[in-house]
Amino acid sequence: MNGIYPPKEFARQANIRDPTIYSRAHENWVEFWEEFAGELEWFEPWEKFFDDSKAPFFRFFVGGKLNASYNCVDRHAGKKNKIAIIWEGENREKRTYTYYQLFREVNTLANGLKSIGVGKGSRVAIYMPNIPEGIISMLACARIGATHIYIFEGFSAKSAGFRIKDSRAEFLITADGYYRRGNLIDLKEKADRAVEQAGTIKKVVVVKRAGNDVEFDENRDIWYHEILRKGHCEAEILDSNHPLFIMYTSGSTAEPKGVVHSTGGYLVHVYATSKTVLDLREDDIIWTTASLGWITGHSYAVYGPLSIGSTVLIYEGAPDYPDKCRTFDIIEEYGVTVFYTVPTLVRMIQTCDPSEYDISTVRLMGTVGEPIEPETWIWLYREVGRERVPIVNTWWQTETGGHVISQIPSLTPMKPASVGKPLPGFEIAILDDGGKPVKPFEIGNLAIMRPFPGIMLELNGDTRSYVRFYWSRYGKRIYYTGDYAYADEDGHIWIVGRADDVLNISGHRISLTEIEQIAMEIPEIREVSAIGLPDRVKGNVIGIFAVAENPGKETGEKIVKKVENDIGKIARPGLIAFVSELPKTSGKIAKRAIYDAIVGKKRSSYVVNPETLEPLMKLKPSERGIVVL
Ligand code: WTA
Repeated sequence: MNGIYPPKEFARQANIRDPTIYSRAHENWVEFWEEFAGELEWFEPWEKFFDDSKAPFFRFFVGGKLNASYNCVDRHAGKKNKIAIIWEGENREKRTYTYYQLFREVNTLANGLKSIGVGKGSRVAIYMPNIPEGIISMLACARIGATHIYIFEGFSAKSAGFRIKDSRAEFLITADGYYRRGNLIDLKEKADRAVEQAGTIKKVVVVKRAGNDVEFDENRDIWYHEILRKGHCEAEILDSNHPLFIMYTSGSTAEPKGVVHSTGGYLVHVYATSKTVLDLREDDIIWTTASLGWITGHSYAVYGPLSIGSTVLIYEGAPDYPDKCRTFDIIEEYGVTVFYTVPTLVRMIQTCDPSEYDISTVRLMGTVGEPIEPETWIWLYREVGRERVPIVNTWWQTETGGHVISQIPSLTPMKPASVGKPLPGFEIAILDDGGKPVKPFEIGNLAIMRPFPGIMLELNGDTRSYVRFYWSRYGKRIYYTGDYAYADEDGHIWIVGRADDVLNISGHRISLTEIEQIAMEIPEIREVSAIGLPDRVKGNVIGIFAVAENPGKETGEKIVKKVENDIGKIARPGLIAFVSELPKTSGKIAKRAIYDAIVGKKRSSYVVNPETLEPLMKLKPSERGIVVL
C-alpha cells in the first residue's frame, strides 16, 4: 500500500497496536462497539445495542442508563491533582482546573441551575466565548439532564435569536463580554437582543468575564457567581437516548438545522474515536483549536477527551493575536501533546518558523473541517512534526457526532490530503446517483452504509427535513452525507467538496442559499448569486454576484453589513461584484459558469446569455472587495 507509514516510535506506544481491529470490527460490529461502551460507566446496562425498527430514527444502547457529566468528571475526580482544563485568555490570563475542582464547579453550578428552575428535559442555550465556564455549563446541564444548545459567540444576535427560538430554550447562560483581537466584545448586549427576538427565555445567567458595564434586567438576569450553591448534586440517571445537546448547522436550505445528539451513543462514539484516532490517554494535553460552540469543540475539546481523563486546553482569543505565531507560543508554553486544528489555521501559521519554538512535546496532530491541500499537509508534517509526528485527517460532520473516516495513527499509512480509510465500526461507500458503487478514482456521493452510535437522533422539530436530506436518496438505512468523494486503489478516501449549496469557510459550514436570501432582503438588489471562491488562507471565501438598482460601494457595504448582522463576521463576503446580468441556463442562475469563468477562465457552453461571461472572464480569482463590472 502507498503512503507514509506511521513513525515507529509513535506506533510502539499507541493505544491501538493490533491491525486486526479493522477486520474484527467488520466481522463483529456489535462486539466492537460494546467493548468501548463497556469502558464507560453505566448506571444500568443496555438491553439492546441497536434498534432500527423505526428507521431512519436509529437508537443505540437501548435501555441503558448513564450520565455524560458523571463519565467526564466524577470518574476522574478521585485523581485530585490531575488537571482537567487549562485556559488561556487572549490577554494572557491563565486558569487551570483539576478534575476535582471541575467536579466541584460542575456540582455547584448544577445546584444553582436547579435553584432557578432548570431540570431534566429543560433546554438551556449557552452563548459563550471559549472560557472554562462554557465547559462547566455544558457539564452542569448534562448532569441535570437539561439539553444544551451552545451558540458560537461570534454569531450575531439574529443568528443566536433564531437558534434560541427554534430550540425553545427557556434559559440562557452567557457572559458580559470577551476579548477578540484586542477588542472587548459586548456579548451581553448581543444576548439581550437575541433573547428579545426569541421570546422564549425566562432566565439569563451571566458570567462576569470582562467586567464591562452591562444592562441588567432584575427580573430576568442573574449573575453566574450568585447562583452557585455548594454541595453535591446527584447526577441524573438518564436514558441512553436522552438528548444531550442540539447543535445548529448549515444545510442546503436557508434555515440552520438543529442536530440533536443522544447521551449514550454519542458518548461511546466520541470516547472510542478519542482513543483510537486521537490516541488520547490520561497524560495527554490536547488542544482542539475549534470554538466550544462548534461540534468539534463539543466532541474533541469536551466530551471525548474528558471521558478519557485527558487534559484539555482551551484558548479564548484569535490564534494570530497579538502575534501571528501565538499558536506556537501556546503549544510551547503548555507542552501540548495532541494538536487538533483546521487547515485554515495551518495555512495561517505557515509563515512562522516552527524551529524557533520548543514544540517537541507534540506527538500527534490532526485536522478537520475542510480539505487540506498536499503542500500544506507536507509543511505540517515536515516543519512542525519533523517527520516523527503522525497526522490524522479526520472526516466527519455535525450530524455524525464524531470521526467516521480517518487514520488510526499507529496503523494506517498517511497520504497527504487523503482522509484515510473508514474507521473500524463504519461502512462507507461512494455511490452514483442511482445508488451503485462507483469505481476507484471515480467521483461519487459519499454515503455511510450502516448507522453508527454517534449518528444524530433527529433534527429538532423537523422530521420531514431529517428524512428528506439524509435518508431519502438511498433509502432509510443509508446515510447521505452531501459530500462528493472518490476512493483510490487502496480504498483511501479523498474528499472533493460539498454536493449541496454549502460552503466551507475556515472549517465552518455556511449556506449559500441563506446568504442569497439575506442579500435579497436589501431593496436595491434585484438578483443575486453567492458562490465560493478559492482563497489561500481560508480555503474559500464568499463571492456575491448581484444585479442592483444602484451598483457600487454603498450598496455593496449594505450587503456586507446585513450578512454580518444576520449571521456574523464568519460569513463576511470576500468579494461583491455587481454585474448588469447574471449568466443563466434556461431559468436558473448558472453558478458553475460564474465559477468557471473566474477561476478556470473557461466559457461554459450551456449558458444562454454568453455575453454575461465576458466581464467575469476578466476578473482575477484573487480579487477582493466591492467591484462594479
Ligand atoms: C467537511 C465538522 C475535507 C465536509 C466536523 C463535511 C471535511 C463538512 C473534512 C462537515 C476533512 C469535514 N476533509 N472536508 N477532513 N472534515 N469536512 O458539520 O464537507 O461543521 O460534510 O463538521 O465539513 O462540517 P461540520
